[in-house]
Amino acid sequence: MACDFDISEFSLLDVPDDYIDDPYRYFAALRERSPMHRNPDGTVILTRYDDCVAAYRDPAVWSSDKKDDFGQKFGASAPLYEHHTTSVVFIDPPDHTRIRRLFQAAFTRKALAAFEPRIIALVDGYLDRFEEQGSMEVVEDLSFKLPIEVVCDMLGVPARDRLLIRSWAVAILTALEPSIDREQFDTGNRAVVEFKDYLRDLIKWRRSHPNEAAPTEVLTVLADAEADGEKLTETELLHQCIFMLNAGHETSTNMLSHGIHEMVRNPNEIRRLNSIPDLIEPMVEEVLRYQAPIQINNRRSIQDTEIGGVGIPRGTTVHLIVAAANRDPGQFPDPDRFDISRRPNRHLSFGLGVHICAGNSLARLEAAIAFRRLFARFPKLQLVSPAEIAPRLRFREVKRLHVSTH
Ligand code: HEM
Repeated sequence: MACDFDISEFSLLDVPDDYIDDPYRYFAALRERSPMHRNPDGTVILTRYDDCVAAYRDPAVWSSDKKDDFGQKFGASAPLYEHHTTSVVFIDPPDHTRIRRLFQAAFTRKALAAFEPRIIALVDGYLDRFEEQGSMEVVEDLSFKLPIEVVCDMLGVPARDRLLIRSWAVAILTALEPSIDREQFDTGNRAVVEFKDYLRDLIKWRRSHPNEAAPTEVLTVLADAEADGEKLTETELLHQCIFMLNAGHETSTNMLSHGIHEMVRNPNEIRRLNSIPDLIEPMVEEVLRYQAPIQINNRRSIQDTEIGGVGIPRGTTVHLIVAAANRDPGQFPDPDRFDISRRPNRHLSFGLGVHICAGNSLARLEAAIAFRRLFARFPKLQLVSPAEIAPRLRFREVKRLHVSTH
């Protein structure tokens, strides 16, 4: 549907009322009419695929360091500032390289293969329950549970604490929205403090009860790096754990919910997947492209530069609208069509370059197992009521999705 809104007025700080229902028509209008759009706060919104790629690919010019932005937004003494300026995703090389290296062991092919039987067992358990009950609330009963169970296992955190972790994650990640109110700020700060206290106790316990059976357990690897005295400070250790727990479930939860939602809305695609099981991989990619769980990434120019031939002064914060780039017709023919056989599909949902999502293979594995087993077992899956989408801009969150077996 065309956008009748005057796009020159568009602001991420005050989006139109119907934005959450369909952000994509605003992205299309921006891409066509204002591809380097100036937000009222002086930041710049990029919506073209090539422009986002250019910024991702050049970390020497486009920094991920958020000290300036978050200093203004949170104040340098806020716990939210400490968290979001210490976690691996918001720092530049060489610190970024040092810290990212520590995660590698958790994501090797071998480490992920070891998780596969566990993911299958978890999914089958959720589906058995679905069969018994005839209906499920997808977010609560499957798409939140699976990634949080897996990431808790990966870190070595008791999954019984998942509701606590979820509430901290929501509070900490909500603070990344383009604009937040006082209550969101206070809740976010409280969440960082409580999460750190929780992890301190857990790390102490782990040190006195080493888990020799799981040498790649992230908590152990990071705690050992901290004990080494040079590789990681205590503050870094705590914030990488918080980041990993948050990054490892919030986005995957939404990927799973969106995938189920899009397939139920396109029953022909369920039939196609069931008759050609090899479509599972392109199907997962299409879900990621079509409803990017992280819609917006940011970078800041640390020197005068240009993008798409337009000069950009040093110190400019840009919003890379990944969700818009993923529907750029120059890269994706017929971009608003959900097509599980789309190839090639070089979407940007995991970012690109040095910060490309460290957990992308795990997320893809979870999705492939969950989607394949769900649609094979319940090919007549139906929507019970319209999905509810949360009013958040950075994360495209399905709040509720109710389905029945037929
Ligand atoms: C569908 C699910 C997921 C999506 C869409 C997603 C998306 C992203 C994106 C866009 C980035 C890059 C941000 C930037 O460049 O500024 C990122 C980074 C990261 N993600 Fe994911 N992610 C997902 C799942 C996961 C999982 C399951 C884990 C771990 C268990 C994880 C761990 C990380 C880490 C550690 C980074 C930081 C990498 C770095 O800065 O070098 N992610 N993710």
